[in-house]
Amino acid sequence: MMGDSQAVVPAVVELNAIAKQGDQQKTGIQQAGKLAQKSLSVRLKAGTTSTHDSLDLRIMRADPFGSQDRYKHFLKVQYVFHWVTEPLYFNEKIANWIPHIHKGCRVAQVKQDCLDLGMSEQEIEALVAPFDKVVVSDTAALGWLYTLEGSNIGAAFLFKFAKKIGLDEHFGASHLAGNPEGRGRYWNKFKNAVDALSLTPEQEQDVQQGAANAFALVRSLVEKHLP
Ligand code: HEM
Repeated sequence: MMGDSQAVVPAVVELNAIAKQGDQQKTGIQQAGKLAQKSLSVRLKAGTTSTHDSLDLRIMRADPFGSQDRYKHFLKVQYVFHWVTEPLYFNEKIANWIPHIHKGCRVAQVKQDCLDLGMSEQEIEALVAPFDKVVVSDTAALGWLYTLEGSNIGAAFLFKFAKKIGLDEHFGASHLAGNPEGRGRYWNKFKNAVDALSLTPEQEQDVQQGAANAFALVRSLVEKHLP
């Protein structure tokens, strides 16, 4: 008897687990169904939120706004990221999709911020010496640009932190300053342009992969430059 009940208990537990798994799968399928009805920018956000949040935590744990000296490490990450991705802002196909995109390129501002903080030209160029510029498909480029342009939204907070260590749009933190059109308005313009495109599922997969690869590059740069 004892043996029987012992055999029954795991079976019940297992059945419950299967039922729960079924519920979770159902919820997953429902969520995927709901997401499919949303715009591409919403799906991009959904696809990158957990990566974003862990990167955000990792960066803030390194206290990049603790002092101007610590902020320099963050600038190194930003310079490499914006330098390798510069050509994506001047891609002809992307310009057809998003005519204003070239205005978003911030590599010159990041470089000026590095110079303001006392880094030499040689030091700045040495940062990118191991890298090539990013060369990807037009759709993957769109994903990279989502990550780049979106990073300017979080930058609103970072700009406030930068001000506390004596930096501003004229000195050291020009790349974190809001777009002259307004940060939110500019971001919405980007998202509207992205959402107006009609892409195949394969192309959309490419966009998602591009966004993920951009986050992965930044993560690796953070590991290298932000102790
Ligand atoms: C410490 C650093 C960071 C903080 C505190 C931060 C914070 C934020 C915040 C508060 C938002 C707005 C979220 C919302 O509208 O719901 C945001 C959006 C975003 N951030 Fe960050 N962020 C950081 C770093 C980054 C980095 C390094 C990247 C990319 C390389 C990035 C990419 C994005 C993207 C793509 C969005 C737009 C999400 C969307 O609405 O679609 N962030 N960030």
